[in-house]
Order: sequence, then structure tokens, then C-alpha cells
Amino acid sequence: MYRTNTCGELNLSNVDEKIVLSGWVHKMRKMGGMTFIDLRDRYGITQLSFDQEVNPELYTQANKLGREWVVTVYGVVKERSSKNAHLTTGEIEIIASKLDVLNESKTPPFTIETNTDGGDDLRMKYRYLDLRRASVRKNLELRHKMTFETRRYLDNLHFMEVETPVLIGSTPEGARDFVVPSRMNQGEFYALPQSPQLFKQLLMVSGFDRYFQIVKCFRDEDLRADRQPEFTQIDCEMSFVEQEDILNTFEGLTKHLFKTLKGIEVPDFPRISYADAMRYYGSDKPDIRFEMKLVEIKDLTVDRNFIVFDSAPYVGAICVKNAAIYTRKQLDELINFVKRPQVGAKGLIYLRYNEDGSLKSSVDKFYSEADLKLWAERCNAKPGDLILVLAGETESTQEQLSDLRLEMASQLNLKDKNDYKCLWVVDFPLLEKDKELDRFFAKHHPFTSPKPEDIHLLDINPAAVRANAYDMVINGVEVGGGSIRIHDSEMQNKIFTVLGFTAERAQEQFGFLMDAFQYGAPPHGGIAFGLDRLVSLFIGLDSIRDCIAFPKNNSGRDVMIDAPSTIEKEQLDELGLTLIKPKE
Ligand code: AMO
Repeated sequence: MYRTNTCGELNLSNVDEKIVLSGWVHKMRKMGGMTFIDLRDRYGITQLSFDQEVNPELYTQANKLGREWVVTVYGVVKERSSKNAHLTTGEIEIIASKLDVLNESKTPPFTIETNTDGGDDLRMKYRYLDLRRASVRKNLELRHKMTFETRRYLDNLHFMEVETPVLIGSTPEGARDFVVPSRMNQGEFYALPQSPQLFKQLLMVSGFDRYFQIVKCFRDEDLRADRQPEFTQIDCEMSFVEQEDILNTFEGLTKHLFKTLKGIEVPDFPRISYADAMRYYGSDKPDIRFEMKLVEIKDLTVDRNFIVFDSAPYVGAICVKNAAIYTRKQLDELINFVKRPQVGAKGLIYLRYNEDGSLKSSVDKFYSEADLKLWAERCNAKPGDLILVLAGETESTQEQLSDLRLEMASQLNLKDKNDYKCLWVVDFPLLEKDKELDRFFAKHHPFTSPKPEDIHLLDINPAAVRANAYDMVINGVEVGGGSIRIHDSEMQNKIFTVLGFTAERAQEQFGFLMDAFQYGAPPHGGIAFGLDRLVSLFIGLDSIRDCIAFPKNNSGRDVMIDAPSTIEKEQLDELGLTLIKPKE
């Protein structure tokens, strides 16, 4: 027998019981004629005690063990004299009577108990050891609970989980595809799905009515803290629904997850239009844990010979509470921050509203105290506040102000990880113009329906058409997005035309969907959540990597299995592939 109990469950109620435990040697302490070993398994840690006087042979055997050896121990549960309040098993110990070594271990490259040992690269190379740490394992436990509760909740609402294929053709989600060469069809390639979008819509045509799938998706895009090349979606679709039904259903799911996994009752989610999100936050994923809204002050800045503001279509400000005490050096650092290429502003104007009521700005040469007073009033500033102003093209300046807003919130510790503020961003534009290519792209994807009241604008002002599309945002993170789809071929053809698809190309790429729509497609819509992002938010992680068992690093590599890797020439030949520039 390997075990009667786990290492995380014994307590005073088990005293005097004979037990068997198996696990890893976590830590050893020698004190006089006693040796104490912390034995670890997935469930916790239990102290084993070996007494030289009582059992010298066993004591010697115990002292020969090393870190991370796998052992089985037989013994009796006893109350401890010095208790450890941090452990659930901290009131007891096992007086060992027999020890079996199941396997030895090399000394691990980092110790298992701390979080920081070894650095990222080493942790990833030995991810199977990293996963032995309680902190990393807890992340995966929460992930498991989230998928479990999601399945339970959706099953109760008659959603059905259906698997869709992984070897498919290109999906129109807008990122680059990962492709897989076909041996049997040389010169042809599968693409890995960026999402099961087309399949879930086909399932609606099939009458499945309520579908979901917890599913891997693949996107070959530049990696960031919240992006992995393969990630997981909670992908959902419903028939006979309007936008309101989808928002309510999935707000319900999110509330259920907060309640069951975190014990938090989150209030109803506010809704904000895309236009207002941009106007007040400069972002389509606003973090509303703090105010600091963008305020337009262009009309208060004109005709004072300040060419920077006069020539800018937009002048916007944020009011940072209690930050008038920022020093010149700190303000210079902020100027450097906004000038970084990632932010892209040309400069930054500031206005200190001092505690004594005086106003001091970096543009005093152009603006009188009375002018500045008007700025401060518009921004609802109080003595002690700092006003930061950027000017330029409307959209890009709003985005720069958003970056500055988030930076100020970080500097002033306004991003409380335990404060969850959820919202819906609705009424996204249907289309997005690529200025360089001078053509429109679908902002969400080409199957998203326009708002009925905006359809007439498709021919005259496509950029103004709003879509039945929505994102769920929590603490500034886009955790999910979806739309009500187009379900008639005529409208779909119209959108393809606006997107610049010829009839042939539309038929070639999406013919099967267009065909399916000829056979009675119900009105339908859906949403997909980024599971990794949702889990990270629930735990308060800085990167989604930490809630993925075997993630890729920033260059898209799995350093443990060393992938991607080159393949043998025979394999290339079989696939009919020739490398133009073989890797040395
Ligand atoms: P979308 O492209 O918005 O919509 O993706 C849905 C959600 O998936 C998450 N996500 C990612 N997470 C980690 N790494 C990535 N590289 C990554 N890319 C996206 C985000 C995002 O909100 N088919 C549509 C959904 C629909 O219309 O129903 C879709 O995929 O949290």
C-alpha cells in the first residue's frame, strides 16, 4: 500500500492512528538526535519525525534521504509540541516506524519552496519541477475549478459542448495563422483555428441552439503578457437571441464564477458605448477601478498663440488627484514616458493646482491664471491636484492619454488587484479603416451584424456603421468579445462587398458558410472568453503564462521540449517541402 492518507489532511482528530503516507522529501532538519522531514504531495505537507534513540536504524536511513526523493512512510500520528499555525497539518507529526524509498532524485536546479529561485528560463526548462510549487499548482487548481464551474453553469442552461476540428482552413480572425503541411495533399496546408468561429455558426444552422466549447485557439501574433500563441477560449454560441440575451447570459456566468471561486458578489455590469469609452478613457477596454477620465479642453485653449494647441484638432486632459506635489524631476519622467515610441506623444503640458489655490503650468507664457482656472474647473480639479494635457489627432491623443492615465494609476497604487470592476463595451464600429491600404477591415470579424438603424450608412459612410458587437472588460483587460451574427446571405454578401471581397474570393473562402446560410440559418450570436486571462485576473497574476501548465516563452518557444525545432530531410521530402534557407 502506498498511502492511507494524503499529506494535507491529518490533524488532531487523527492522533494515535496508524497511517501510511507517500510523497516527496520537501525539507529536512536535523536537531540533536532528531531528524524532521517535511513530506509533500499535491495536498500539503506533513512533518515526519525520526528519533535516534527510539529507532537508530530508521534514523540513519532517514538521514540518507535527499531533497525531492520519493518515499513511503509508515507511522503513527502524534500531537506536536511546537505547532505550526501556517500548516493545516501543523498540529501533528508522524512518528515514523518504517521508510521505503520509491525513487531517488538528483538535486533539483532550484528549491521547490520559494517562488523566485532560478529565474524564468530555468523555471520553464524544468517546468515539471516548477509545477511542484504550491503557488504554481494553486493557479492550475483555480483554472480547473473555473472550467468545471463553467461547464456546470452552461450545462444547467442546456448548453452542449461540441468539439470542432483543429486541422482546418484559415479562419478570419485577423491574426496570422499557424499552418500544417499536408503529406497526403502535397503543396496544401491546414491552418490551426484562431477560433472555432465558423464551426459554431454552422452548429447553429444544424439546430444545436446552445453550444459551448473550452477550446485551444492558435494565433501567430507578437507575444505580450496577456497573449500566448496557443490559448484557451470558453467559446459560446446561441440561437434565437438578441444582444441583450447574450449579455445577460454571460454576465450571469461571470457572476457565478466570481461567487463560486472567489466568494465575491459582483454588481450588475455597467455598459458603455465604444464611442464613450474612447472619449472618457481613450481605450476600448477601460479600467474603471479609478476615475481620472479624459476631459476635452480644446475650446479653452484657442487664440492664445500657443501653436501646439492651436494646430491640434484635440486637446485633452486628465486630472490626477493629490499629485500637485509631483517634483520637476517626476514631471520630466512623465514627459519621457509619453515620448516613448510605445506611447508616441510629442510632449506633455502640466498644470499644478497648488494647495494654496495658485495655478502653475508649463505654458504660463501663453495662458493667464484666469485661463488656467477654466481648465481646472472643466477638469473638476481641487487644490492639490495635477492636470496633465496632451494635444494632437483625436484618436491617437486619446490613446496616449489612456496610457498616461494607466501609468499614473500604477504610480499612485490605484490598481487594487482585489477590486474587480466589470463592464460591457457595446456598439463597436463594424469596420476599421486601414489607412495605408485605404480599405476597410471588419473590426470584429466579417460575420458580425450591423445595427439595423445604421444599415443605410453602409453605402454612404461605412466608418460610421455600428455593430451588434460587445466586449466584456474587467480591470482594463478584455476578457471576452462577441457579436450577433449576420444570418442572411444577402446582408453577408453586402458586407463582403464593403470589405472588398470579390464574389469569387468570398465564395472560395467562406462558400460553405454562405451555402449553409441558404438552408435556414436561425438568428444567432455568441461570445468567446479568454480563459487564461480570466484565470489570471482571478488570481491577480501579471502574466497569463503563470496559469498555463506548459506555456511558451516570449519568443514563442517551449524551452522544455525545445520546440519549435528543425525536422529531418526525409520528413521534409515526404511533405514535399524544400527549405529555401535551411537553419544552421
Ligand atoms: P476574439 O478574437 O475577441 O473573438 O477572442 C476572444 C477572447 O480571446 C482572448 N484572446 C487571447 N487570449 C490569450 N492569448 C491570445 N493570443 C488571445 N487572443 C484572444 C481574449 C478575447 O477577448 N470568435 C470570436 C468570438 C465571437 O465572436 O464569438 C473571437 O475569437 O480574451
